This record gives sequence, C-alpha cells and structure tokens, in this order.
Amino acid sequence: MAAMAACRIAHATVAAAAAAASSSSKPSCVVARPQFCGLRRVEVGCEFGALAQQLQSAGRGCRGVVSMAGTGKFFVGGNWKCNGTNESIEKLVEELNSAKLEEDVDVVVSPPYLYISKVIGSLTKRIEVAAQNSWTGKGGAYTGEISADQLVDAGVKWVIQGHSERRHVIGETNAMIGTKSAYALSKGLGVIACVGEKLEDREADRTTDVVFEQLQAYADAVSDWSNIVVAYEPVWAIGTGKVASPQQAQEVHAAIRQWLKEKISPEVSSKTRIIYGGSVNGANSAELATQEDIDGFLVGGAALKGPEFATICNAVTAKKVAA
Ligand code: PGA
Repeated sequence: MAAMAACRIAHATVAAAAAAASSSSKPSCVVARPQFCGLRRVEVGCEFGALAQQLQSAGRGCRGVVSMAGTGKFFVGGNWKCNGTNESIEKLVEELNSAKLEEDVDVVVSPPYLYISKVIGSLTKRIEVAAQNSWTGKGGAYTGEISADQLVDAGVKWVIQGHSERRHVIGETNAMIGTKSAYALSKGLGVIACVGEKLEDREADRTTDVVFEQLQAYADAVSDWSNIVVAYEPVWAIGTGKVASPQQAQEVHAAIRQWLKEKISPEVSSKTRIIYGGSVNGANSAELATQEDIDGFLVGGAALKGPEFATICNAVTAKKVAA
C-alpha cells in the first residue's frame, strides 16, 4: 500500500501545480476549454507547459487537472439503518424535500423496510430509495426476508449489500453477499456493494487483502458492473466518530480502482463510483471529497439529519472547486 501511495501524485501536489500553472502570467500553452466527463476535468489539445511537466515527472502523463479519477457522477447514500418512527421519518422527508441539492450528485436514501413505501410516496423524486438488504433469490418460504422482486414492485431502485453490520453482526458470508447482489442486479436494482476491513485487519496490515477478497466475491457472482457502486467502509470507522483520514481513505480507494482495472477492466475501473463510509459528517465531507478516488459517501448517523445530509451531498462542490 505504501508503494501504491508513493506512486500516486498527492492531490495537493496537483492542486499546487495547477495553481502555479494558472498564476503564471504567460501560460506556455493556450488551454482549451475544460470539459467535464462526470466531474473529471480533462483539458484537450494542449501541451500544458509547466503543469504537464510536473505531472509527467510524477509518472501521471499529461492528463490534466484531475479532480476525480473515475468518470462517474458523485454519489451520496444515506443509510438510516434500524432507526426512525413514523413521526421522525416524516420530519426527515420534509427536510430532504426542502433541501437545496447540487445537480452533480446522485442522492439515495435507505429507510428501514417498514417505511419504504411511505418514503417513496412522500419524498421528492430527486432522491432515489434503497433497501438495506435483499434475499438471495426469488421470494417464497423465507420468513423475515424480502426479495429483490418485491423491492422493484415497491419502486425501490437500489439495495445495499455486504454492509459490515450484516457481515459481522448477522454473519453474512462473502459468498452469500455475492449471490444476493447478483440476484438484485438481475432484477434491475442498483447495488451499493460494501467492503471494509476491521481494526485488527488494518493493524495486521491486511486491509487490502480483506477488501480484495470481498471484492472478489462480488466479481465471482456478477458479470456486469454497470449498476454497482462500491462503498469502502472501514469497520473501525462506522458509527465510532473515528473517520478515516482523507489520505487513508484515498489510499484504499485508489487500491480498489486499481484492483477493478486489473481484475475486471479499465473501463469498469474508471466508471465505477467508489464511495467512502464511516463517520462522514457535515464537517469532514468536503475535505474527503477533494480526494481523487473518493466519488461520494455512504452516510449513517449524519443521514438522519436532513440539513447535515444535504451539506454532505453538496460536498461535491469541494470537488469542483478543487478541479
Ligand atoms: P456512520 O455509518 O456514518 O454512522 O459511521 C456509515 C454506514 O454504516 O454506512
């Protein structure tokens, strides 16, 4: 991981290079109008002068000022977990309906099953709804389970799979999570595919081993990644108030993108949103968002407060400003 981090140019270096290039009174080339693919700013048809040299000497080639290594749109999910009452959910929906959300972000919220229909019936269509889990296949004699078919029938668009609470509290295995994801995808749901290491894994320097094993289980079960958003959620950061530092998160996100490139395809690597989860809040989201490979967030506690969740969604602005 250290080697991987070392071979990636730090975001600050890119920003500094960009600032240096733009403050030069005589730019060494006329920079063509920037174009945004997703939010990745690419500059076409120029040599970039000093900036290009710095990027090239850092081994990145002349790829412009990059605010987003992937090409997908920023994505923020709110995971309400097993929280809420009729009353508190009505209030939260009202807050979300009146929130001003930037356009450059896909926003999804995930209420407990019981309240899904109520939320779909009252929430602005600007925000889509996810379930927190779904069964491995078609419905039937599976007491307490909900099938992807039923979720689709209820108007749900997404499902979270492999959340650490389901892995480590309920005991779901990698293989089961892969099967459930594949079935949900086959029914047209988008899957928010969670991965993440426990503290003991991190301390034993096994972070990427664990994360790659979890990714491999998804890869073994699914053939099409176009409806998958990967959520990196270190278990030690979930619900603990102990957020990963932007550098810690970026390092694992970059490793995941590289894994996708090598094991799936460069196209999937570029298009797949890799979002971060674990104690994200209104105060830390903007700095996290400026990291190249952080394409959004999966938010727990702070998603229960409408205005704060809106602030996190609008952290996409920090990414644009950093571009
Ligand atoms: P947290 O939860 O934001 O409360 O840490 C994140 C999650 O579990 O998705």
